[in-house]
Amino acid sequence: MLLAPSILTADFLRLGEIIEILNDSEADWLHLDVMDGVFVPNLSLGFPVLQSIAKIATKPMDAHLMIVEPQKFIHPFRDLGVQVLTVHYEACTHLHGTVMKIKEAGMKAGVALNPHTPVELLTDILDELDVVLIMSVNPGFGGQKFIPHAVDKVRRLKSMTGLNQRPALIEVDGGINLETGKQMIDAGAGILVVGNSIFQTGSPKEMIEKMKFAWSSGGNP
Ligand code: DX5
Ligand code: ZN
Repeated sequence: MLLAPSILTADFLRLGEIIEILNDSEADWLHLDVMDGVFVPNLSLGFPVLQSIAKIATKPMDAHLMIVEPQKFIHPFRDLGVQVLTVHYEACTHLHGTVMKIKEAGMKAGVALNPHTPVELLTDILDELDVVLIMSVNPGFGGQKFIPHAVDKVRRLKSMTGLNQRPALIEVDGGINLETGKQMIDAGAGILVVGNSIFQTGSPKEMIEKMKFAWSSGGNP
């Protein structure tokens, strides 16, 4: 399993130091939450901040676009060096076209689903996707309560991806801690985004190690 820390709830006064800590940790990806105040009721990282992060980040950058019209920003994120670009199903009128453009730009293409959106809606595009991001909170903020129904969605999605030659990776995002992470892995998730559970502790590096060990060894949290 892969662990992707989300810096949304980290102390932005120490952003450079935090990115260096993550560079030096067992984290696999760096999850960047981009919000426009329209698709979600919050604003987060804009390009000036993202450019500074991209200068020092050594982990693959996994950009989660919680924005309307994400197709307008495919090339700027490619130019940042983002490896995985995830758009929301609910924000895309022409999702197939947007996914193809992301892949043509040389990035992995991900589609994120809000808690109310059935995984079955991805049936006709699933084999084009590299990643499906299942939200286990309503997007917009870190530190929210886990939505247990998301576990069932991961299970159903896992049975769908299993039918494909090149199954999309299942990424989960929101309210993930040692316990909910284990539930999600047991259901079929392969990438876990973790924000508050890592940054609310004194040592993000240690919590990352603890999670990686607990989830990789199948050990109980
Ligand atoms: C929420 C973001 C998540 C969030 C995860 O809209 O997409 O990535 O930052 O944070 P926690 O783990 O704190 O729920
Ligand atoms: Zn996210």
